[in-house]
Amino acid sequence: MNILVTGGAGYIGSHTCVELLEAGYNVTVVDNLSGSSRKAVERVENITGKNISFYEADICDKNTLFDIFDREKADAVIHFAALKSIPDSVARPLEYYNNNVTGTINICEAMKKFGVSKIVLSSSAAVYGKTTELPVKESSPLLPVNPYGRTKLIQEQIICDFCGSINGASVILRYFNPVGAHKSGLIGEDPKGTPSNLVPYISQVACGRLKQLNIYGDDYETPDGTGVRDYIHVVDVAKGHIKAIEKLNHEKSGNFIFNIGTGKGYSVIEMMKSFEKASGKNIDFVFSSRREGDVDACYADVSLAQRELGWKAEYGIDDMCSDAWKWQKLNPEGYR
Ligand code: UD1
Repeated sequence: MNILVTGGAGYIGSHTCVELLEAGYNVTVVDNLSGSSRKAVERVENITGKNISFYEADICDKNTLFDIFDREKADAVIHFAALKSIPDSVARPLEYYNNNVTGTINICEAMKKFGVSKIVLSSSAAVYGKTTELPVKESSPLLPVNPYGRTKLIQEQIICDFCGSINGASVILRYFNPVGAHKSGLIGEDPKGTPSNLVPYISQVACGRLKQLNIYGDDYETPDGTGVRDYIHVVDVAKGHIKAIEKLNHEKSGNFIFNIGTGKGYSVIEMMKSFEKASGKNIDFVFSSRREGDVDACYADVSLAQRELGWKAEYGIDDMCSDAWKWQKLNPEGYR
């Protein structure tokens, strides 16, 4: 079975390619390398000992996308390719709408033209926005608070409407906070510029690239006053995609939406302490003001994925931190 993976050179995409290849699927990757590296694909091949059919191409370039679909005869698509920085999406919303929304429409058009009727979409807890209901359920209100989150919600709606129109099937995975890296230390998260997410920031403080962690807010309504999130190991996230593909092999049509998290929340301080333990380094930090748009706490109800996908996170925060640190230590400059 051939899976066409858009954004397969990226952080979650590359980890998913490892799991796909190890589960015996053939993999085609389409990636414009704007936020990722060709080296990630080579390293996935090294880890698995298998080849990937790689295209450096932009999903916004419809003609090239059609050529790839024509050549590769995909049985299903996993769609990761997207711009993903929340602060960036506030500064450059049109680029986000253009890339994330137009790109998704192009994927659907290519699927229709070449008779592909199964897709897994990479979505985000950002679609929930400032939810007050905890744990967050798939049926919780969808009120994204930034352009990134809105593009993810629009992508979900496009996919559902499209699959409805062709009698196809989709699985939409809403990830909470993916962190960590593959056990080999060969692939991991490689943010361009200064990271805006917590764990890559802590990693760069630990290895001396950044001076000090700013903890955004110490007066949240949480046990220690710092923000609480549902961190999940990226390998667990990747494995969720294998379960999603298996589900699509059983369901001929319909749209299925699942939260992908551990169901447990950890505070910024708990995460920092766990990282200090894993790395043996002290993380210098300072409390600063709250970051706009942040909520007190956000963690998932993961019972639906457990019940309907047969998927459950296996790793805890110690693994998340020690694997993130191994990647950082072995690749202090990322893939560069
Ligand atoms: C957001 C999205 C999430 C997405 C993730 C990755 C929402 C509601 N959530 O998560 O869906 O998967 O980005 O792009 O939109 N923090 C610090 N100092 C830092 C960085 C972060 O204290 O330097 C704190 C934040 O205030 C927050 C926690 O760490 O409490 C996690 O922040 P971050 O890693 O940026 O992820 P989210 O904003 O939760």
